[in-house]
Amino acid sequence: MDKFVIKGPTPLKGEIAISGSKNAALPLMAASILGEGPSTLSLIPKLRDIYTFNNVIRVTGTKVEFIEDENQLVIDPTHLSHTEAPYDLVRKMRASFYMLGALVGRMGRARVSLPGGCAWGPRPVDLHLKGMEAMGINIELEEGYVVASIEGDDVEGGEFTLDPSSVGATINLVLAAVKRAKKFTIKNAAKEPDVVLLCNMLVKMGANIEGIGTDTLTIRKTDQLTGVEISNDPDRIETGTYMIAAAMHPDSDLTLTGCKPEDLGTFPEHFKKLGVDLTIDGSTIRIKSNRTLNPVSVETQIYPGFPTDLQAQWATLMTQADGESKVTDSIYFDRFSYVPELNRLGAKLKVEKNSVSIQGKTKLSGASVMSTDLRASVSLVMAGMAAEGTTEVLRVYHLDRGYENLEEKLNSVGASINRVDE
Ligand code: EPZ
Repeated sequence: MDKFVIKGPTPLKGEIAISGSKNAALPLMAASILGEGPSTLSLIPKLRDIYTFNNVIRVTGTKVEFIEDENQLVIDPTHLSHTEAPYDLVRKMRASFYMLGALVGRMGRARVSLPGGCAWGPRPVDLHLKGMEAMGINIELEEGYVVASIEGDDVEGGEFTLDPSSVGATINLVLAAVKRAKKFTIKNAAKEPDVVLLCNMLVKMGANIEGIGTDTLTIRKTDQLTGVEISNDPDRIETGTYMIAAAMHPDSDLTLTGCKPEDLGTFPEHFKKLGVDLTIDGSTIRIKSNRTLNPVSVETQIYPGFPTDLQAQWATLMTQADGESKVTDSIYFDRFSYVPELNRLGAKLKVEKNSVSIQGKTKLSGASVMSTDLRASVSLVMAGMAAEGTTEVLRVYHLDRGYENLEEKLNSVGASINRVDE
């Protein structure tokens, strides 16, 4: 297993190009198996989760070619015959569960392993299953697998309300409905850019979806969908992560290129309250930090609110703010595994229920810390870059799941991160 050896403190000065979005790419890959012919997806990041999902899709007999140096995927489901997603792959990456909707959509049947939990607790899929049953899909559970099937070619559909709103359930239900539901309405649907991009891809393939970008989606079945060419979105969470990383040090001057600022929702408004100089110009975002950093308390919300995937990074930033602040996660109530690790570096964080209170400004000093999940890990790297001395971040395979070329990008703008085989 690899670890990062980080020497700090280092300001971030220079330019970083943003990669394609992990969380937007995965549903596009699942949707590709609904087409009669091959689909070509561009701006696909070289991440562990993408390679894992490629293997999940290949199990079905679908041909998947990853042209890595062009970040391009060609997915050809012409010979798809096996309607199963096995436990040993699904457990590695939860989004493999999208194969349930995609396989039912294409073949009218599926046998997909229930995903496991994750580092910060249970992540149920009850809404995915209840929504499919509401649509008219038969759902059985056997030996840790979901067995889904429909009688005949299609289902009546109807309507289903997501409570709470769920990105994954919205995606899975859309994938199942576009070729199978006579008319299906999803209420309180997720509006994340990842969902909008998926719906736009499916419409380009010939699907009939109304309400894209709103919290009410109505789908009417289309018998045949064609393969398409489509470009993935830039990663909005990678963008927010590097914006926060720049603000961690008072002398940073970082420019991010290839961004899609409109996908950041209300995040820039929170960011501006820090007192950091933020310039958004087309697809370029520039962050010039300065001596003072205002404490800014936030609460995570569904899109376009503050994203839960930036919660850990923001709490880490607040250790450097001049005053007390509080970060509340109302999406995941226990996503705080990074807190004890940050406190080992000298931070003063205290978790109460689904909030963490942060004392600022605290001096961070290097130490060895343990990665637990993707966003917690990148927060420890950010803290290591701001800490005095040497920080070792262990088990960086978590990072390789969701941040393309992380250490190369950060070292190119002044960080000192050395990947060592532990
Ligand atoms: C997606 O996960 C993202 N993953 C997560 O990013 C992200 O944190 C999350 O959306 C919220 O934005 C991918 O896109 C691959 P949800 P997902 O269903 O779809 C509850 C990362 O770091 N819920 O929107 O699994 C659930 O417990 C990852 O990149 C149910 O109760 O999230 C949570 O409280 C981590 N029943 C809330 O809904 C269900 O059936 C939102 O979860 C499904 C969800």
